[in-house]
Amino acid sequence: MNIFVDSQMNEDARRRELYRGSIFVHSFSASALKFCRLAQDLIEEAFHPLDPLRVHETLPAEKCAEILAVLKPKFIHHPQSKEYIKGMLREAGCDLDKTYFDVPRMRTAFPGDYLKSGIAYAFHPHRDTWYSAPFCQINWWMPIYDLNSENCMALHPHYFDRAIKNGSSQYNYQKWNLESRFNAARHVQTDTRVQPHAEEPIELDPQIRLVCPVGGAYVFSAAQLHSTVPNTSKITRYSIDFRTVHLDDVLGRVGARNVDSACTGTTMGDYLRGTDFSHLPEQAIALYQDGSRPEYVVSSVAPAPPVKASFRQ
Ligand SMILES: [Fe+2]
Repeated sequence: MNIFVDSQMNEDARRRELYRGSIFVHSFSASALKFCRLAQDLIEEAFHPLDPLRVHETLPAEKCAEILAVLKPKFIHHPQSKEYIKGMLREAGCDLDKTYFDVPRMRTAFPGDYLKSGIAYAFHPHRDTWYSAPFCQINWWMPIYDLNSENCMALHPHYFDRAIKNGSSQYNYQKWNLESRFNAARHVQTDTRVQPHAEEPIELDPQIRLVCPVGGAYVFSAAQLHSTVPNTSKITRYSIDFRTVHLDDVLGRVGARNVDSACTGTTMGDYLRGTDFSHLPEQAIALYQDGSRPEYVVSSVAPAPPVKASFRQ
């Protein structure tokens, strides 16, 4: 596999590389930096007067979960969030007319066992394609504050082409949204919601921990196995992630190879066009609907209906 840093490759070639397992690192983008500043402001306002990187030292976990339950949706729906993503995509050379993105999530990874479930879920090794993401989905991940190798996210690229026995056949995105997603804040110490896990021992090493500066981002295929690094640093990690798909690849069913995903449903209804935030054409979404939840309806009205929790993988 390859890791491209500040590559000037055109975006069609870049997507082909991503679908083969490559990773792209963008070291700086003006819009990404503004996006991080927005997130910092919201975080600092929410936890005031505490230092948000050290809230775990004094704040009860239940109280922290309550604050996050307000903070995270506020970030997702902030009117500037979509504009900054649009700016990031433009600065990365994406064709905004054909690039669609989903609303951004804010993630937290607290040190030790402070808060690892529900609203601050610590992600076990998974592929997003176990969670009904299409194989052309591309993940963008960026730190909000300075990151270190003990509180970041890890990729396990040796599994990119290697099947893992997993529980994805039990997962349906539409069903998850209806039944489980909105309860994230209730799961403070344990999380009883059924999610796809590996069902065989996983070799986490070798793993790649990319540590980019604030204003940077790394980009990888939804088919990459990735996980939350157990936070052994003394500080909380806050990060942003969002996902994109390109219309040509959606229509052409181009993407990474499916080695082991058996979920049903699709996240295709979530993505919004870079220009006007409209949904993908219904005929494009229809290509990915498998009839597993016939009541699933895609709104034809832009902008998208709000997502009420920040739990998508
Ligand atoms: Fe993920």
